[in-house]
Amino acid sequence: MATFKYTTLNNIAQDGIDRLGENFVRTDDVSEAQGILVRSAKMHNMEISDQLLAVGRAGAGVNNIPVEKMAEKGIVVFNSPGANSNAVKELVIAVLILASRNIVDGINWVQANENNPDIAADVEKEKKKFAGTEIKGKKLGVIGLGAIGAKVSKAAVSLGMDVYGYDPFVDAKKAKDINKKMTFISSIDDIYENCDYITIHVPAMESTKDYINEESIQKMKEGVVVLNMARDVLIDEEAMLVALDEGKVRYYVSDFPNPTVTGHKNCITIPHLGASTEEAEKNCAIMACDELREYLEYGNIKNSVNYPNIDAGVCASECRLIVLHKNIPGMIKKLAHVVEDEGINVAEMTNRSKGNYAVTVLDLDSQISGQNEENLSKIDGVFKIRKVK
Ligand code: MLT
Repeated sequence: MATFKYTTLNNIAQDGIDRLGENFVRTDDVSEAQGILVRSAKMHNMEISDQLLAVGRAGAGVNNIPVEKMAEKGIVVFNSPGANSNAVKELVIAVLILASRNIVDGINWVQANENNPDIAADVEKEKKKFAGTEIKGKKLGVIGLGAIGAKVSKAAVSLGMDVYGYDPFVDAKKAKDINKKMTFISSIDDIYENCDYITIHVPAMESTKDYINEESIQKMKEGVVVLNMARDVLIDEEAMLVALDEGKVRYYVSDFPNPTVTGHKNCITIPHLGASTEEAEKNCAIMACDELREYLEYGNIKNSVNYPNIDAGVCASECRLIVLHKNIPGMIKKLAHVVEDEGINVAEMTNRSKGNYAVTVLDLDSQISGQNEENLSKIDGVFKIRKVK
């Protein structure tokens, strides 16, 4: 089996790296890496080398990676969905309580009184300023019912909350499987109009930018608390500041400090700690490294954000080719034509597509010539050809 060079753009937990195995060699030179492991490092302005075959994101969000550009170069981008969902869920529950009990203001008061010799007595006089409300019996709206949203909805129900769930990609039946004690909502306005707390768990994409905006905030209840442990771009934060100033929104809790919101008295910001637990870092690293290894060694794809999942198993034939190509008609015929032209029998062929992109795995009864491999790569619409065996 070939050896692969990989590099890391962030610290990746050793438990993951250990799973890459002996066929993987670390390099510090990103231009020679066939695999990149990344957490939050921004890759949009990075030069993408021709050597690069795959990127493994140890985490869920891929807004730091030029996913489309990678697809056009035949580079498969993986993420680790669900691997840090428990960590994020726990933080959501923590901030929910933090905001409902005015804990941050309370802690700030104590810190400001560190040299006050009468602090013990003053606490009893001052604490009424920080009295809050309980979350039990309150309505929580969960926008996005993926791995994190689903877990948040269950945890909130177990704390006695009345949970409303919304996700345009989930139907009533699926919503029941996710959490039968959640009220599934098919119009997001029901969340805005009814909920005391709203938490958002959708991916950051062009289509989800400003998902919560001035118009949606207008529909919300007076004194609502909005939690954002997903990404700052999902919220029109200028509109959020106006709503905070007017008291329409009681607290905006965000895991993404930025110059717009940081410092506002009713905005609680956390330094992107959603997935920062030992367990989540380990789980994400393991998932990303397993995905990278499976693809580089066998060509199988699981949890890619730009190519379809494909599982052709282990190659039992002489040769395996992985073709990453445009999802257009006639492609399979063209690929087969080049292979058969050389008198090679196709033992097994697997093809999958996702949106504009497709993968074809060809298991062949004999080795293909270098010339024909090149001919395959010249077919219009083929982004990359890999021979994994
Ligand atoms: C995620 O997208 O998985 C979380 O925000 C944590 C992270 O960025 O690593």
